[in-house]
This record gives sequence, structure tokens and C-alpha cells, in this order.
Amino acid sequence: MKRIAVLTSGGDAPGMNAAIRAVVRTGIEEGLEVYGVRHGYDGLMAGDWSLLDRRQVGGIMQRGGTILGSARSLEFKTESGRQLAIQKMEQAGIEAVIVIGGNGSQTGSHALSQMGFPVLGIASTIDNDLYGSDITLGVDTALNVALETIDRLRNTAASHQRAFLVEVMGRKCGYLALMTALAGGAEAFVIPELEISPEAIASELADAYNRGKSHAIVVVAEGSRNNATALLEHFQQHHERIGFKLRASILGYVQRGGNPGLFDRILGTELGAAAIQFLLNGRFGSLVGRIGGEVVATPLDVVVSTRKKLPEHLLKIAKILAR
Ligand code: F6P
Repeated sequence: MKRIAVLTSGGDAPGMNAAIRAVVRTGIEEGLEVYGVRHGYDGLMAGDWSLLDRRQVGGIMQRGGTILGSARSLEFKTESGRQLAIQKMEQAGIEAVIVIGGNGSQTGSHALSQMGFPVLGIASTIDNDLYGSDITLGVDTALNVALETIDRLRNTAASHQRAFLVEVMGRKCGYLALMTALAGGAEAFVIPELEISPEAIASELADAYNRGKSHAIVVVAEGSRNNATALLEHFQQHHERIGFKLRASILGYVQRGGNPGLFDRILGTELGAAAIQFLLNGRFGSLVGRIGGEVVATPLDVVVSTRKKLPEHLLKIAKILAR
């Protein structure tokens, strides 16, 4: 193998740049030419790539986002889009591609692999909803951003004896919300895996008040049926009966834009370097992630067909500690 490509796809995640840097420098060390594809699968279909050298990936590790750019490509979801990508790569002599991304991106890499093209994925999404890595690239930094916000809100909530909602990202997965609630000492949390009604939230908060708490923080996952918007509306409508108001902060993209912390820089470096070794060993059609402290390659067909579960023990602890 002589020539490979690397791309970042889907929602950007802090640590992607560390992974790109590791792929490029380890690849060069192994005698490979590494091409950086711009804007994910869109760039692959357009043949929009350039050869990267060691210096071009210098000074990027501490930066959030991805120097290659990312995209959510609709065209790549079609067979003809993927055929076009394969054709472009074959014409350019590119023999394998490394895809740094989350669920949607790895569904794309799996489809490419099914069509016979050598692919390796690197587990990267702030949502931590991807099977094949205990923790994916970007999660740790996104959680630290959310945590900082909670700490700030707690200050103002305590000063005014108020109750606050903090909505975090995560799509249909409650991992970010659960961990933020645990580490931020929230009074309650709302996640898609464990839906709770607005009235139940109201009584949990009233209980907290009766137990002597002067303020409250509720962490809400964006993918919950009762997300921050729905809860606010309910509390506003029934304000008189419930007896107190809620204020809300929706964190949104702020969580994705942080500069990667130590954990994500190391994880990106580890996974990027390992991806080259797996590639040289012919472990195509796999996702590179970390499980139980070991860097492993999990077959993409297992990755795309398995749902990652929330850690049960942490769910239990979170409920006890919120009291
Ligand atoms: O998958 C990462 C993520 O940030 C989710 O948490 C969020 O729901 C989604 O991406 C937002 O997607 P987009 O960047 O396409 O608006």
C-alpha cells in the first residue's frame, strides 16, 4: 500500500485534529503518502484532496474543529454517490481511506467497505453513541464545556434561589446529559433512555426545596421528548399551580467548539496512530476505538448494527446522588 486518504465527517469533535496529525505523521513514517480530503464525503466524491506533509499538520493539535473541514453529505448516502467516490479514489491511486467520524459517518464507511473499498473508521463524536469505543473522540472536551456552564449557572441560581434547565447535545443518546448531571451535581436529569414527565420534574424540584436546597439545576438531553423547550412551555403554562418558574440555557454548538483537552488530544493521537497499523495489517472494514483501556478494531458491521448502552451503574448512582 502506497497512497491513502483521511477525512473527517459529520459533526466536528475536539480531538479530530490530533487524529489527523497522528494519521499523517505515522503514515509518512511507514512510507505512505497521506492525502487530506476536504469537507468529508463531499470532498471524496469531488476528488477534493491534497497531499499532506508533516509540517502541514503541525500546530493543529490544540485547535478545536477539524482542519480538513466536515460535512453531512446527502449524496454519499446514495449508491451512485459512493461509486463516484470509489472511482475518484481509484483514478488517483488512493488504496484506502480513513474516516474520522460518528454514527452517520461510519454507516457511510461501512457502505463503502461493503462495496469492496478498503476503509477504516476512527470513533469520533461528542455524543458517545457509537458502539466500538467506550468513549469517543470529543466527548471529554464537550463534557468539560458543559460542566463549566453548570458551575457558572449554579452561582447565579444560588444567589437568586432559582431553578435552571441546562440542555446539552447528544441526539437520541443521554450520555452527555447523564455525565454532566453526575459531575455537575445536578438535582435532576432528563434523558431519552429514561423519559420523565414535566410534572415529575416539578415534584422532584419541590422535594429538593423541601429538603433544604435553595436552588436547582436540571440537565436535559436535547433528544428527550421533554427537552428544554417543552419543559419551559409546560412550566410557564402551569406556573401558578406548580409554584415556581424555570429558566433555561441551551448549550448547543458551544459544546462542540471547545479546544481539545488532554484526554481528547491523547485519544486522537492514539487512535490515529493505531489506525495506520491496523491498515497495514489489512484490518479493513473496522472501527478503531478504545475499549477497556485497549485500542481495538471492531468490525463495522457490528458497529452499525449494535446500540451502545448507557452505563447502568452510573444511571443508578446519578439518581441517588441527586437527592
Ligand atoms: O452528532 C453531534 C451533534 O453535535 C449532535 O449532538 C447534534 O444533535 C448534532 O450534531 C447537530 O448537528 P448539526 O451540526 O448538523 O446541526
